[in-house]
Amino acid sequence: MNKAQIISAAEEYVKELLSGEGSGHDWWHILRVWNNAKHIAGYEQVDTFVVELAALLHDIGDHKFYNGDASVGPRMAREWLESQLVPEEIIAHVCSIIRDLSYKGAGTSSAMPTIEGQVVQDADRLDAIGAIGVARAFAYGGHKNREMYNPAITPVLHNSFEEYKSSTAPTLNHFYEKLLLLKDRMHTETAKKLAAQRHHFMEQFLEQFYAEWNGNR
Ligand code: ADP
Ligand code: NI
Repeated sequence: MNKAQIISAAEEYVKELLSGEGSGHDWWHILRVWNNAKHIAGYEQVDTFVVELAALLHDIGDHKFYNGDASVGPRMAREWLESQLVPEEIIAHVCSIIRDLSYKGAGTSSAMPTIEGQVVQDADRLDAIGAIGVARAFAYGGHKNREMYNPAITPVLHNSFEEYKSSTAPTLNHFYEKLLLLKDRMHTETAKKLAAQRHHFMEQFLEQFYAEWNGNR
């Protein structure tokens, strides 16, 4: 199979696996990230085969093991890529991107050593902010039975991945520990520009949310 055929096969594999997922990692998230990644990659010197494979396969381990083992995704990706006879060098690169991709809390770093990984991380993070980001946060919060907001609970920032992942704070807390921090953690100029606009929208959303909460007309 040539590269285009492998990308198409990856699309089919992921679509099948993640269709109808309700917690924020459905096929449509993957499609948006894939499109973001292709857009950003157009402005960078990158191996687009690696970028597209990593974008397509980045969340395949999460649908079942949401709170669990971070090695599941890279392992599933490796198995699938091996089944397609993708060269080992590319498999290793794609799997290391998938392993390093996810956000691990406000006080943790987002190290991503290669430009291909940076493009995919920016693409994934753009989908966590803006209008879609707001929608995904509340979808996730509902899925986990969280309150939307509780004025008696002061926002908390978690400094370790374990605390961050096990937090049961209301959904609005997630804006302070992740969504509002992402614009300053983008790697590429293209993503920085898109993030600035999406960030501004979230600030307006929060302003309006608090105004309505407090009964202002
Ligand atoms: P990613 O695929 O970006 O690494 P996650 O697996 O952390 O994302 O989360 C999937 C989606 O759910 C994202 O849009 C994220 O912002 C949102 N999300 C994750 N944790 C929370 C939370 N505690 N409260 C609200 N939304 C969350
Ligand atoms: Ni994702």
